[in-house]
Amino acid sequence: DQYQTVSNLLLIWFEANKRPLPWREHYTPYHVWVSEIMLQQTQMERGVAYFTRWMQELPDVSSVANAHEDFLLKLWEGLGYYSRVRNLHKAAKVIATEHGGIFPEDYAAIRALPGIGDYTAGAIASIAFNQDVICVDANVERVFARLFDIDTPVKQKHNMEFIRKTVTAMLPAGHAREFNQALMEFGALLCSKKPKCHLCPLNLFCEAYHLGIPHERPVPVAK
Ligand code: ADE
Repeated sequence: DQYQTVSNLLLIWFEANKRPLPWREHYTPYHVWVSEIMLQQTQMERGVAYFTRWMQELPDVSSVANAHEDFLLKLWEGLGYYSRVRNLHKAAKVIATEHGGIFPEDYAAIRALPGIGDYTAGAIASIAFNQDVICVDANVERVFARLFDIDTPVKQKHNMEFIRKTVTAMLPAGHAREFNQALMEFGALLCSKKPKCHLCPLNLFCEAYHLGIPHERPVPVAK
């Protein structure tokens, strides 16, 4: 069906176009977790620099659990939103005390960790453990706003429900690690704020492209 064609095209595009990011070398839950927290509110290039330095100092969860908060804050200095690093510390201690120092695989256990919401739990469960769960960030919302010509702000409840339902229907079983990253990378590199529709492998499947209005999606929140 059409959803399967779209997800296949996305996987092919990702294989050919994915950036060689440091956490894509191993996909350990610790690396995926730290990278996803760092990249929230942070540009990719900065995120990579801070991630590399963090991993040199703190190679595993237990080193974070045992670190002094001041040291973690110093490694985070310049990234802002310091609740993120305080929650990393809290979560590392929970993993040490309640999970024997092993990052939990169970979705509910991941989601219950401090600082981990639906997006981050989905990213870790799928990217680190390849579980068939979705993760929807602003990139994914933009891609779907265009593919389905969503003509109201994407954050509206019915739109979020539609997007989550449709991403779930498109997710190829057994390939969530690649599929979720493909969607985010596609949104970041091709279906970006200024979309590169002439290079897009999905343009024939895209409602906003057919209407000639991809730059008008997603619809901004009224001010
Ligand atoms: N931005 C945040 N997380 C990402 C990921 N896993 N792949 C691509 N872009 C991202």
